[in-house]
Amino acid sequence: MRLKCSWIFLIAILCFLPSSANPQTPGKDAEGHEWWKHAVFYEIYPRSFADSNNDGVGDLKGIASKMDYLKDLGVDAIWISPCFPSPQVDFGYDVSDYENIDPMYGTLADFDAMTSEAKKRGIRVILDFVVNHSSDQHKWFIDSKSSRTAEHRDWYIWRDGKGPGQPPNNWTSTFGGSAWKFDPITGQYYYHYFYAEQPDLNWRNPKVADAMFEVTRWWYKRGVGGFRLDAVDTLFEDPKLHDNPILAGKNAFGDPIEENKYDTKLPEVHDVLRGLRKVTNEYNGVLIGETWTADIAELNQYYGKSNDELQLPMDFLFTTVNRLSPAEFRKQIAAVNSASGWPTFVISNHDIVRSYDRYGDGQHNDQIAKLMAGLYLTLRGTPIMYYGEEIGMKTTPPTRKEDVKDPIGRSGWPKEKGRDGERTPMQWDENANAGFSQTAPWLPVPPTYKMHNVADELKDPDSVLSFYKKVLKLRHTSRALLDGDYLPVNENDQNVLSYVRFDKSQSVVVALNMSGAEQKVDFGFSKNGFASAKSLVATGKSSAKGDVVTLEPYGVFIGELTK
Ligand code: GLC
Repeated sequence: MRLKCSWIFLIAILCFLPSSANPQTPGKDAEGHEWWKHAVFYEIYPRSFADSNNDGVGDLKGIASKMDYLKDLGVDAIWISPCFPSPQVDFGYDVSDYENIDPMYGTLADFDAMTSEAKKRGIRVILDFVVNHSSDQHKWFIDSKSSRTAEHRDWYIWRDGKGPGQPPNNWTSTFGGSAWKFDPITGQYYYHYFYAEQPDLNWRNPKVADAMFEVTRWWYKRGVGGFRLDAVDTLFEDPKLHDNPILAGKNAFGDPIEENKYDTKLPEVHDVLRGLRKVTNEYNGVLIGETWTADIAELNQYYGKSNDELQLPMDFLFTTVNRLSPAEFRKQIAAVNSASGWPTFVISNHDIVRSYDRYGDGQHNDQIAKLMAGLYLTLRGTPIMYYGEEIGMKTTPPTRKEDVKDPIGRSGWPKEKGRDGERTPMQWDENANAGFSQTAPWLPVPPTYKMHNVADELKDPDSVLSFYKKVLKLRHTSRALLDGDYLPVNENDQNVLSYVRFDKSQSVVVALNMSGAEQKVDFGFSKNGFASAKSLVATGKSSAKGDVVTLEPYGVFIGELTK
C-alpha cells in the first residue's frame, strides 16, 4: 500500500513523525544519531596496504603514512584485519597473543602512533577480534594440550574419539578435513572449525569469556573505537556432539557437504554478544559482526532482542546479489530496511571476490564500479568499504598452485583457489611494485596497477576514485543521505534501480542504470509537487530535465528534488 501512495504524501507523513533523538547522550550527534551510523568504515588488510620498512609485507607505520589519503577519501573509521602476534597460518586469523602487535607489523608504540594520527583526523581505529579460536601457539593452548589436568585444559574443546583412530563425530572443518585433531600427548581430540592450527576456544567456560572480555577492555583503554568480531556464528557447538546431517555432493576439499546444524549459530552466541556489548557501551564503541545470516530473521537475532548485541551485523545477503539486477537489489534492500537494527552494507572483503569483477562485464567495469559506489554509499545504512575498491582493483587469483599463499587454495586447488586474488597489494602509483613497497611484495601486484592506481586516479576527474570521493563527500553533507528514510520508486523498472532518500530538510533521488543501454526514466516529479531534480553527483552526461532523468549506460544520477 505504501508504494502506491504519492511520494509527497508519504514524505510529508514520515517527516513529521516524532523523533527519538536525544542530543544529550554521549557519542551521539546533535540530532541524536550514534557516530557509527554516520561513519564510513574502510577495511584494511594490513599485509597489503603499505609497506614502510620494505620487507614486502605492509605494516602499521605504512597505514599511518596513508592517513591523509584516507581522510581525503572520506573514511571515518578503519577496520584493520588482525595485526596481533601470529604464526600467520591464516594470515593473522590465528592469534597467539591478543594484547600485542606482530613484529612484522610493528610495535605497540607504532600502534599508538598510528591511532593518534588517525584521531587527529577524526578517524577511529577498529580492531579485528578473533573470538572463535586462537592460534595453537597461544600460551593458553600450549598449556591446554600439556596435560588433561592443565589449568587451561578446559579453555578449548577436548573429547575422546569414538574409537581408535575415529574422531568424536562427523563434523568437518570449513577449511577441509575432519574438524578434530588427535593429540598423542594426552590421547584426546581437540576441535577446530577452521585450520587445525586454530583450535576453538571453549566459550562455555566462564574463564574464557572473562579473559576475552578483558581483551576488549584492554584495547578500548588504548583508544580503539570498536571491534569487528570474526566468525561469530561458530562460537558454540552442541555439547552432546550430535553428528551433522549429510547433504548430497562433495565440497572443493572432497569432503561430504554437511548441514551445519550442530556446530554453528547456537543460541548461546547471543549471551556472549550481549557481554561484549556491555563492555563496548562503556567506551562508546561499536561492534561489527562477521555474520553469515541466511535471512532477515537471523540478522535480527544479531542486533539482539533489545538491540543489545551487534550494532553492525554485516549483511552478506547483499553480497549474494551477484548480478546487476534492480529487482534483486530492491528485494534485498527492502528486506534489510525492515530489519530491527541499522543496516550495514558490504560489497567486498578479504574473503570474497572483489565487487569489480563480481559485477563487471569485462568491458564497462569502471562504469559499473561507479554504479556500485552510487548504490551502497547512498543507501540508508553504514557502508564498509574494502581497500582498493575505490580505485577499481581487480581480483587477481594465482594461476599456478605453487604460487598460492592461502592454505585453502593449496588444499582446494583447482576448485578452490583461495583468497589471494582479493588480497593483492594496494596500488598507489605507477612505480615498481605499485608504490606499495620497494621490494617484491608477498603477493604479486596485478599488471592492472598501471591503469588503476591512486596517484593517476587522483588526477583524473572521471576516475573511479574521483567518483568515490564525490559520493562520499555528498554522503557526509546531505542530511537525507545520512539519516533520511528510504523510499523505493519506479519499482517495475527492469533496468534502473531508483529510490528517494528524504528527511525534513531534503529529498534526494538516486537513479542507477544497471543496463548497458541509455535509459530515460520518467519520475513524475511534477505529479508529486516537485519541479525536477538538481544534479548533486552524476556520471558523464546523466542528467535530469523536468520529470525525466536520462542515464548513460551504467550511469548514475543523484539529485536533490527541487520545487
Ligand atoms: C573469518 C575471516 C577469514 C578467516 C576465518 C578464520 O571468516 O574473515 O579470513 O580465515 O574467519 O579465522
